[in-house]
Order: sequence, then structure tokens, then C-alpha cells
Amino acid sequence: MQPTVIAPSILSANFARLGEEVDRVLAAGADWVHFDVMDNHYVPNLTIGPMVCEALRKHGVAAPIDVHLMVEPVDRIVPDFAKAGASLISFHPEASAHVHRTVQLIKAHGCQAGLVLNPATPVEALEWVLEDLDLVLLMSVNPGFGGQAFIPSALAKLRRVREMIDRSGKPIRLEIDGGVKADNIGQIAAAGADTFVAGSAIFNAPDYAEVIYRMKAAVAA
Ligand code: DX5
Ligand code: ZN
Repeated sequence: MQPTVIAPSILSANFARLGEEVDRVLAAGADWVHFDVMDNHYVPNLTIGPMVCEALRKHGVAAPIDVHLMVEPVDRIVPDFAKAGASLISFHPEASAHVHRTVQLIKAHGCQAGLVLNPATPVEALEWVLEDLDLVLLMSVNPGFGGQAFIPSALAKLRRVREMIDRSGKPIRLEIDGGVKADNIGQIAAAGADTFVAGSAIFNAPDYAEVIYRMKAAVAA
């Protein structure tokens, strides 16, 4: 198991003051910045691209930027995000014609690579590529929007993927994304996640530090 990471999704931040919001959440104890990229094609919403990632780096953000690509096709945007300062780049297998090639492309650009499974995507999608990955991201909502409810079947899926990762013996992170709150994160951690994305639970709270503290305490319990 890797050390716990809390990765606030800036999808729920105030975009009119994004730099400030990211500074605040990192000062409040967040470990990574989760950066949701939506293209109004692979998912029914449109968000932010490499320019915003670059702007955060220029603003002085030093923490890992965890880019979650919900775009199709994937490959042509990978070099742009690497240049813009992405640390990790994750993508959905449904959005890439050649999953293995995309993983190698991300790594060749100096980033860590993650594969994202939607709630109904079978864990078998990981089988032939798992050992090349730095991270597996399980969606516990359907991608496209913040503020949705956690889909309970994600817990059983986390346990399955935790076993696969442990069997591989590789230091692969297991990240969960969607509906994570201070009151369900303990259960999610017990099912095997070590990296937690939370958007609305953090950015809709009046005190970011208090929520992040409660989340870390529940994971450690
Ligand atoms: C959904 C995104 C998530 C989302 C999580 O497509 O990938 O990162 O912002 O938001 P919450 O934590 O509000 O479910
Ligand atoms: Zn995400």
C-alpha cells in the first residue's frame, strides 16, 4: 500500500480564482491537485486544458498535478499536458484505440501513467497492462460531473483491483474518484484505495483543512 494521498478535484473549485483556491487547498493539507479534463465528446461536459495546467505551474503550484483525461482521442493531447507540467496522466481505455501505446506515450513524455475504469468497465481491462501502470483510477460515479453519489459496487471492485495490484508486487497506486466524503472514505480505504479524489466534499466545505483532516483521520483509523 502506498502512503495516503488526498487529491482535491478542482472541478468544484471557484474557477474565477483558481490559483488562490489551489494554494488554499494545498495549504490545508492536500497532497495532489486532481485536474479533470472533459471534452464534450467522450463525456457530456467541457472543462479545462493544458493552458490552465501551465498557468497553475506558472502561478507556483509545486504539488503533483494529477491529470484525469476524459477526452477522445487521447494521444494527441498527451504531449501538451506533459509540456504544461502534468505529473500523472490517466485516461479511459474506451477513449484510446491502442491502450498499451498510450501508456508508453505518457511515460515517454516523462509522466506517470494511469488507466481509469468506469463503473461498468470490467477489471479485466487492466490485465495485460497493469504492470506498466503507475496508477489505477476507479470511477465510483459516471464521469462528467462533480457532486454525484458514490456507486456502492465500487467497493467490491476496489477489493478485486487491490488483490491484482498486490499480486503484481509493483508500487501501483489505487485511486478512487467520485462521491468520496469524510463519512465514507474509511470504508473506501478499507476496500483498498490509497489515493482519494474529492471535489465537492472539499470545495463546498467552509474549512478545507477541517475536511482534509477528517478524511486523513478516517483513512488512518
Ligand atoms: C467526475 C470527475 C471527478 C469529480 C469528483 O467525472 O472525474 O473528479 O470532480 O467530484 P466529487 O468528489 O464531487 O464526486
Ligand atoms: Zn476525476
